Amino acid sequence: MGRTRSLYVCSACGYESPRWLGRCPSCSTWNTLAEERPAPSAGPGAVPRDAGPPPETVRLDEVVEMADERLSTGLGELDRVLGGGLVTGSVVLIGGEPGIGKSTLLLQALMQLEAAGVSTLLVSGEESPGQVKLRARRLAAGRGGLRPSAPGGLRLLTETQVERVVGALERERPAVCVVDSVQTLWSAVSSSAPGSVAQVREVTGRLVRVAKAEGVILLLVGHVTKDGYLAGPRVLEHMVDAVLAFEGDRDHAYRILRAAKNRFGSTNEVGVFEMTPGGLEGVPDPSGIFREEGPPASGAAVVPALEGSRCMLAEVQALVVSSSLAAPRRVTRGIDHNRVSMLTAVLMRRAGLKLGDCDIFVNTAGGLTVEDPAADLGVCLAVASSLWDRPLPEGVAALGEVSLTGRVRYVSRGALRLRELEQRGFKRVLMPARTLEEVRQHGAPKGVKLQAVADIGEAVRGTIG
Ligand code: TYD
Ligand code: MG
Repeated sequence: MGRTRSLYVCSACGYESPRWLGRCPSCSTWNTLAEERPAPSAGPGAVPRDAGPPPETVRLDEVVEMADERLSTGLGELDRVLGGGLVTGSVVLIGGEPGIGKSTLLLQALMQLEAAGVSTLLVSGEESPGQVKLRARRLAAGRGGLRPSAPGGLRLLTETQVERVVGALERERPAVCVVDSVQTLWSAVSSSAPGSVAQVREVTGRLVRVAKAEGVILLLVGHVTKDGYLAGPRVLEHMVDAVLAFEGDRDHAYRILRAAKNRFGSTNEVGVFEMTPGGLEGVPDPSGIFREEGPPASGAAVVPALEGSRCMLAEVQALVVSSSLAAPRRVTRGIDHNRVSMLTAVLMRRAGLKLGDCDIFVNTAGGLTVEDPAADLGVCLAVASSLWDRPLPEGVAALGEVSLTGRVRYVSRGALRLRELEQRGFKRVLMPARTLEEVRQHGAPKGVKLQAVADIGEAVRGTIG
């Protein structure tokens, strides 16, 4: 008789290996492989092949079309990311680091739905009914718009065994159910520990099946580990209809909700929230919030970064100091480390900046993560400004991607970015020539001086030098 062999499964991506490895070859994370014993029942082979007659197929034109009905969560920013609200029968996974506000967001949504007459159920494996009630009371007090009795009808279940949760769902059939969180649930079918990949997969599979069968909209909470990987939930992405990631810096009040996958809408839109003592408040016009007040300081530059269909003005801050280390430090927060290394190299080589013996720190203000390449030029200006200890002139902003050759390259949506800058009082904007041409064709704003820049040396010396 053969031994039952253990498998080592990566908790971040689900990669399976017959032996333990320190680093997952699939997703390159360290120390995520954990031992799991295979399930006793032998997978698909256990199902007899002659299970009834073969199924009927249908012609597409005979299929009854699904109505694209959306249920508003009452939270505009959440609806925006979902693509206009919750879709009937859909399953949405919401991931984020512990403490970022997932439970708060979903409790607020449930309270709003309940107030709108939608039947709801909150399954919590993490908090006691007393804790949930306390939070609900605080949230209701924070938003005067809710009827005082609003959260009263919300149904609660504190349970961690998925079979029992499934039973409750089948009996109560709420229109919307929140499960907080998939990692706390466990199934009697699987012998693995709660929170392991096998358990999280099994639990989610059970919940998705019952939700689809009963027509329940299911919102699942999934915790993300510190390094940004969902412990388990990454392996769930294909099982659910939408995956939303709740991001932000716990030290800052602002939070961003992004769609990593959305079967019913675009993945471009982001929602912006502010964490207040009365819960999460949507920020419909977020362009100005990721900046610091006050006169220009050396090392700071404002960039108009696109987030979905909106433009946010982000402040990039750089600090350049002479280093005593053989390998000077490059530390970034809110902006890609490799991107900053590359831009530093370009500044050294193409603009002649002496950065080789300097430690370089680059941050974004307010905890915003900037991925838009249009921020390159702003990052370069911030670094040069810090190196020379001279602030950028007041009212100046920059947009443009910087290539390895030192050229400033075209970026799209120039008109949208300029409009935002103009509204916030910027007077002079540096941009690539092609973007400038495009903006002129659309009718450039009158009060802003547009300046074309071709290469990075010219841009930094012409602005700060
Ligand atoms: P929580 O929703 O519990 O996070 P998660 O479920 O993602 O782990 O939110 C945690 C933080 O939010 C907590 O540190 C307190 C803060 N908070 C507020 O600032 N205001 C509020 O109204 C609430 C409910 C929470
Ligand atoms: Mg929570």
